[in-house]
Amino acid sequence: GLILAVAGNAVGLGNFLRFPVQAASNGGGAFMIPYFIFFLLVGIPLMWMEWGIGKYGGKFGHGSSPGMFDVLWKNKISKYFGALGLFVSTIIMIYYTYIESWTLGYSFLTITKSYFGLENFELMKSFLYSYQGRETSHFFDGLTTAYIFFLITFVLNFWVLYRGISKGIEKLAKIAMPLLFLFAIIIAIRVITLGTPDPSQPENSIANGFGFIWNPDFSKLDDPKVWLAAAGQIFFTLSLGMGTIHAYASYLKPKDDIALSGLATASTNEFAEVVLGGSIAIPLSVAFFGIATTTAMAKGGSFDLGFASMPLVFEKIPFGEIFGFLWFLLLFFAGITSSVAMGQQVMAFLEDEFGFSRKKSTIVF
Ligand code: PHE
Repeated sequence: GLILAVAGNAVGLGNFLRFPVQAASNGGGAFMIPYFIFFLLVGIPLMWMEWGIGKYGGKFGHGSSPGMFDVLWKNKISKYFGALGLFVSTIIMIYYTYIESWTLGYSFLTITKSYFGLENFELMKSFLYSYQGRETSHFFDGLTTAYIFFLITFVLNFWVLYRGISKGIEKLAKIAMPLLFLFAIIIAIRVITLGTPDPSQPENSIANGFGFIWNPDFSKLDDPKVWLAAAGQIFFTLSLGMGTIHAYASYLKPKDDIALSGLATASTNEFAEVVLGGSIAIPLSVAFFGIATTTAMAKGGSFDLGFASMPLVFEKIPFGEIFGFLWFLLLFFAGITSSVAMGQQVMAFLEDEFGFSRKKSTIVF
């Protein structure tokens, strides 16, 4: 249960939205060289350290990084270093849950075919911006729809946190993670078998889509920005340096194996990211809109790709509303199993260091 929960922590929106855009815009296959170097030299060692620190801190009853750092390094300032973890993950949780709520909203808007009929990227973007309240147009009446889905997401997150590690977080992971993998595999197979959707445009094919994301552009390797992007992706996708892995690992039992558990979660995350995340959004977008448009969409960021280009594809394929529903629900599951991880250490901090009850911690948080 705990390993699945840590995998849920790591597998998030970063795997399905952030990774493909980073890879495609930083040299494709060549990006994977710095990516794997940082995975091996930074990702796995840090993952082990965080599991180690967490398990050690847990022995002293600390479920969050300030207390863990305090028992690790007897110095007055050590707990303030630990507090950075609380700070960073709370900040991320604030925006992450909001984006997560769009995925829930879009799963509903897809199954109800609300945007079906909007024919081009500009209109779909306008639909998205109107949902987000960035643009006033006739699609949505202000922020009400977005706000309702945000409230549902918010309540679900805090309800899971309130239920605690085994009855909340582990239970969520046991349901959401297998479904997430199932949906991702169904969608990836659908993508791979699409071939060339429009025979009059043979260059717009799934094969060229995979080429677009994976053909290496080695000239990019001279660019320090590419290396920085690869390191950044490793940190984000493995949830490193935020105190969230520590918080989960504090629940390990003395006999539990850190080396194997850390490796298992890191590899699960990489499978979800490189194999599944790399096989969905970008190849689909190239097959339907071509390389030039996909490049432009990727430049517009992860959200244009996930929330504007993907819906356009769902309109065009048979049973698109079902595939689209699964896509957004998969993003929602990926998102919520990560956002509760960001919150858990704050809950643990309030409970362990201030002696608050679970209820009081939830309300204060
Ligand atoms: N790893 C998560 C993702 O890929 C994001 C995350 C960051 C989760 C920080 C927890 C803490 O989306």
